[in-house]
Amino acid sequence: MTVDDPVQQFEAGLAKLEATYPQALEACSDEQSLRAANARFVGPQGELTALLKWMPKLPGDRRKELGQRANAAKGGIERAFAAKLAGLAAAEREAELSGPSVDVSLPGRHARAGRLHPMTRVVHELIDVFTSLGFDVAEGPEVELYEYNFDKLGFPPDHPATDMQDSFFVETGLNAAGVLDPAKARTVLRTHTSNMQVREMLARKPPMAVIAPGQVYRRDDDVTHSPMFFQIEGFLVDENVSFANLRGVLARFAERMFGEGTPVRLRPSYFPFVEPGAEVDIGCMICRGWRGDAEARARQSQCRVCKTTGFVEVLGCGMIHPVVFQHAGIDPEKYTGFAFGMGIDRIAMLRYGVTDIRLLYENDVRFLEQL
Ligand code: PHE
Repeated sequence: MTVDDPVQQFEAGLAKLEATYPQALEACSDEQSLRAANARFVGPQGELTALLKWMPKLPGDRRKELGQRANAAKGGIERAFAAKLAGLAAAEREAELSGPSVDVSLPGRHARAGRLHPMTRVVHELIDVFTSLGFDVAEGPEVELYEYNFDKLGFPPDHPATDMQDSFFVETGLNAAGVLDPAKARTVLRTHTSNMQVREMLARKPPMAVIAPGQVYRRDDDVTHSPMFFQIEGFLVDENVSFANLRGVLARFAERMFGEGTPVRLRPSYFPFVEPGAEVDIGCMICRGWRGDAEARARQSQCRVCKTTGFVEVLGCGMIHPVVFQHAGIDPEKYTGFAFGMGIDRIAMLRYGVTDIRLLYENDVRFLEQL
């Protein structure tokens, strides 16, 4: 037997391999070193791979037996590798589960405190102003009977506000031709909060003083009109209520909301459910042009909010029409009352100097944080 007897060399190589691989694989402490150790035996340059290249040089009578031993070693390495790999994964998972559950070295995440939306804040302020004057707060439905939104308030059937162009109809009847017929409409998204005059007058006995804030809907959409917006209705019914009482309440409101001296201006106007009726402007609180000094006038001449007029329209009002009392079963000979309805969005825009109504509804935090 010579030193370079292939059988002897093969057997020696195999024996060394068999003696070393279990330990070598087992000693690895992570996946990377395990894969490297595995490659040292069965990779393209591996020890076992080199041995197998010797096979053709072995004498025929030993080849089969030695081949089987080599294959057995290969299987053994494969199993040891797979078992160790699974063991490492299990150990890693175990360490994760039993380790500390909070990584205190992570930088903290700032929890930003929320606050009320500017619209909600304005609603709360308005409620404060009017409840301190003795008004109750009432809430009503946004999907309203056509009758309560229009008819009982004295709208004639062909009034433009009842037009399909202005109102969102929820339920319309079909006419004889099977076509949607606005004349048969039963429910609409309320187009104003004046529906609450009807509901509360039907439910209460005079005297009464009520405000009713809430959402209303109209088919309108531009920088100063949103198809959904907020109104607050207010009305007071008693004996001997006069237009002066209405003016006094509105003056109080303007001062409380916008500061001492804020002027109120009434212009005659028409609403079917009041007589006489008026539109109310209040002095623009963005430019405060009504102060009259040179600086104020200069600001007014540039003011986009009041369009340089110095006043902004915020509400409609008037003395409650006798027909509304009749529809609600209240004696118009005995009682009088006033009503007003204002756009809360408009108030919020003035309050915060916002020139596009849509900003109030987009809920962009970068915008809201500035108010
Ligand atoms: N409802 C009217 C509107 O939406 C406002 C209004 C309310 C006018 C009460 C008079 C009295 O335009």
